[in-house]
Amino acid sequence: MKNLVPQILTNDADRFHEAVQELQAYGYREVNLNLGCPSGTVTARKKGAGFLAYPEELNQFLDRIFSENEVCISLKTRIGMKDPEEGFRLLEIYNQYPLSELIIHPRTREEFYKGEPHLDLYAQLSAVSHAPVCYNGNLLTARDYEAFHAAFPQTERVMLGRGVIADPGLIGRLNKQQNEMDLPGTANRDLAAEKKLLREFHAEIFAQYREIFGEDRNAVFHMKELWSYMLQNFEHSEKIGKKIRKASKVTEYLCEVDRLFRECNLRADGPEARGLTMQS
Ligand SMILES: Cc1cc2nc3c(=O)[nH]c(=O)nc-3n(C[C@H](O)[C@H](O)[C@H](O)COP(=O)(O)O)c2cc1C
Repeated sequence: MKNLVPQILTNDADRFHEAVQELQAYGYREVNLNLGCPSGTVTARKKGAGFLAYPEELNQFLDRIFSENEVCISLKTRIGMKDPEEGFRLLEIYNQYPLSELIIHPRTREEFYKGEPHLDLYAQLSAVSHAPVCYNGNLLTARDYEAFHAAFPQTERVMLGRGVIADPGLIGRLNKQQNEMDLPGTANRDLAAEKKLLREFHAEIFAQYREIFGEDRNAVFHMKELWSYMLQNFEHSEKIGKKIRKASKVTEYLCEVDRLFRECNLRADGPEARGLTMQS
């Protein structure tokens, strides 16, 4: 059984409480607070990573949500708004509360997704955190995970973002690797099975989008964001990729997607060749 944790994005303790009550009614026993979203429309409203620029207000907010809610609360945080050193003050604040988990994405808001995560800061912050720490940032391939695990064997939890959108089989392969002590990277990959999985993943997401949006144009539009990650898996996909990005009618879109799966092989080589490198 998967443990699904809903996420809340707010800086208002009353609204947080309302959301928690609704979620509890659905049976959820843990919620996550988003202190990491770097989007301008979010940070301008002092939410997501924008809240990190106001540590004393954040402290008061946390004081209220931890005293007013009977639910486990975890945090997803960046290490500051502008300066990675802000992370130390933030950790002091977080350590006052019984977080069920602290997910650290060691970049500032200003860094968005660019450059390398600050692993040096992550090492220092994770060492002093009272809560169990989960690492997030640029674990895009099995090799990235292996390198991280070798450098931080004490970190038992990781969160994957873009890597798993591009390659939904990644988590299954990592689990298999750990169980069977396989070699990391490309040695044991079954590309035909991976392609099948990617195709099923695409079909399921697209079907759900069509149902939720009730309108095919919008569903196709949302699929294009996924393709900006998934296309990097395929060899020689530039031409068909362009057509997928241009398609607006569902028939046209599905025809190009079908062609891509038929004509383009998955890349068997490493992360650099897949374009999803640490510099992304
Ligand atoms: C398109 C997109 C949507 C995202 N939405 C969320 C979100 O709703 N909540 C959240 O905590 N993080 C969100 N993230 C951030 C990821 O969880 C993660 O922190 C980030 O991608 C860095 O990890 P990665 O290098 O493994 O991708 C999003 C990232 C992307 C690219």
